[in-house]
Amino acid sequence: MEIADVPAKFATLGLTYDDVLLLPGYSDLAPSDIDTTSRLTREISLKVPLVSAAMDTVTESRMAIAMARQGGIGVLHRNLSIEDQAYQVDLVKRTQTGIISNPVTIGPDATLEQLDRLAGEYRISGFPVVDADNRLIGMITNRDLRFTPVAEWATTKVDEVMTPMPLITGDAGISREDATALLRQHKRERLPLVDEQGRLAGLITVKDFVKGEQFPNASYDADGRLLVGAAIGYFGDAWLRATTLIEAGVDVLVADTAHGNVQMLIDMVKKLKSDPATKHVQVIGGNVATKEGAQSFVDAGADAVKVGVGPGSICTTRVVTGVGVPQISAVYEAALACRPAGVPVIADGGLRYSGEIGKAIVAGADTVMLGSMLAGTAEAPGDLLLINGKQFKAYRGMGSMGAMSSRGKKSYSKDRYFQAEVTSDDMIVPEGVEGQVPYKGSLATVAHQLVGGLHQTMFYVGARTATELQEKGKFMRITSASLKESHPHDIQVTVEAPNYHS
Ligand code: XMP
Repeated sequence: MEIADVPAKFATLGLTYDDVLLLPGYSDLAPSDIDTTSRLTREISLKVPLVSAAMDTVTESRMAIAMARQGGIGVLHRNLSIEDQAYQVDLVKRTQTGIISNPVTIGPDATLEQLDRLAGEYRISGFPVVDADNRLIGMITNRDLRFTPVAEWATTKVDEVMTPMPLITGDAGISREDATALLRQHKRERLPLVDEQGRLAGLITVKDFVKGEQFPNASYDADGRLLVGAAIGYFGDAWLRATTLIEAGVDVLVADTAHGNVQMLIDMVKKLKSDPATKHVQVIGGNVATKEGAQSFVDAGADAVKVGVGPGSICTTRVVTGVGVPQISAVYEAALACRPAGVPVIADGGLRYSGEIGKAIVAGADTVMLGSMLAGTAEAPGDLLLINGKQFKAYRGMGSMGAMSSRGKKSYSKDRYFQAEVTSDDMIVPEGVEGQVPYKGSLATVAHQLVGGLHQTMFYVGARTATELQEKGKFMRITSASLKESHPHDIQVTVEAPNYHS
């Protein structure tokens, strides 16, 4: 190597969240003017630009439901069998909607014991009863079970206790207003919808209508069902996984590896966006950390690009491999390729405070993906851990030993770290760690603080919309002394704030 080549070997300075602050700008806004709506993909917008990470200690159906209700979206992890992941999609798509287009049903010959199991699984208390041709023959609810002793549930059939037809029903295409009027007039909790042949075409429940009012920002598809994403890979039966998830109703597929700028994953995105069976679904490609990497996904037809190589709280990729790009620079670089093509950017990993959402957006992101900030919520998978009187939840990297080894159960996601063919646990090279995070209560509380913080960012910058924030936001680079000044200092904090930890 010539001495003259040396500067070319040194990439430009990389910056991350702690290296910058946003400048305050002139603001003529009232807080109510601010709108955080942002694009997740080419065709899907979210009222709240938050995405929960596809990690087995962050996003299963409960988190995905909670995220969509808050106006964001969850991406179901892929350390699951295809059937289990598709089942999780199904659970989300059947939850809390204006009109449930494909309700869970039961047959007349099922036993009350089977009914009870189904009710627990889907957390619902009433089912339309249908015959083999999906014709509505009755309704059965918790109330109908009350008069049958539990000891007899194994032998009592649904049609012995259900409320049989004729029932109050609505037409398949009924409006929200007409449905509300019918429910009110007949004082019913549920309104089954039927087509001209008497086949079940949907179900409306009063509870869902009320919930619709409770979650004004919720992320819905065109049929009023909650939005959900799911992660896939490129290896083995990845195509079967993708098509099975699509059949289950997934809205967004996230083709996801730790290093996305690899031909096999780019080909996967290309195929998904060109095959007639799959191209209607939104596809996100990731992760990349350079303009070139983002450009590969843009050229492959991706509907969004996910950015982040090594910024995550549980990541060791940068220390194990020496590879990565500080996250503000990575997002900026990726946006250079994505912005001209109209492809949204997701800033994935490394966020610790609400103020970093705005920083990511100004750097060029449209939404942010969160792992550690959500892993401590009640909706994240896993039980509460009580340690020295304090509550925690487990959180681990998808490239950790725990997630990639056969310890406990089969790992389905080793290909995220290009180790799918490693059969012995001793040979795994982990790129993540396992640990715990403090318990934070409900996702709604955490999301409120995150969105509230973003609102304030937009107010300080003088940006009415996320696009205006991208345009108007300006960074100042700061020193480590400034960073020290930014955090509380010269005080011993005695009362914890809900949105700050040191
Ligand atoms: P945060 O900082 O939000 O990061 O906890 C979540 C993101 O980190 C990525 N991820 C990993 N990266 N090794 C890595 O290098 C891992 O084991 C690992 N697990 C997750 C992922 O992009 C996630 O969204």
